Parts: sequence; C-alpha cells; structure tokens
Amino acid sequence: MTNDDNEIICFCFNLSRKDIENLIKEKKLYSIEDISKETRITLACGACKEGVISILNSVYSKK
Ligand code: FES
Repeated sequence: MTNDDNEIICFCFNLSRKDIENLIKEKKLYSIEDISKETRITLACGACKEGVISILNSVYSKK
C-alpha cells in the first residue's frame, strides 16, 4: 500500500482516504451518487471526485 490513509481526499469536507473507506464499508455504498447523498462529498467543488472513485474501486476490488 503506497497511499497514505490519512491523506485528505476531500478538502471541502476534510475527509481522509481512511474516512471515506470506512464510510463506504460501514454504509455499504456502491456508487459515487450514494457517497454524495451520505456525505455531500464531491458536491462542493467536485475536485475529489476522481479520488473518491478510485477509493470506491479499491474497496470493492479487495477481498
Ligand atoms: S474536495 Fe471534495 S467537494 Fe471539494
């Protein structure tokens, strides 16, 4: 794992990689739309969208 878990992905809502990962797992979120509904993440500036999508993919590609 080369990515830092504490790296902030969404600056608008101050959410780190780990925060987003935990949220995806706890609430069983499967899409960027689900994540946005829960957290409003990506809905402010949208700059974190790519990062959130990659976290989403990595969560579900891991066994
Ligand atoms: S960085 Fe996530 S909405 Fe702006």
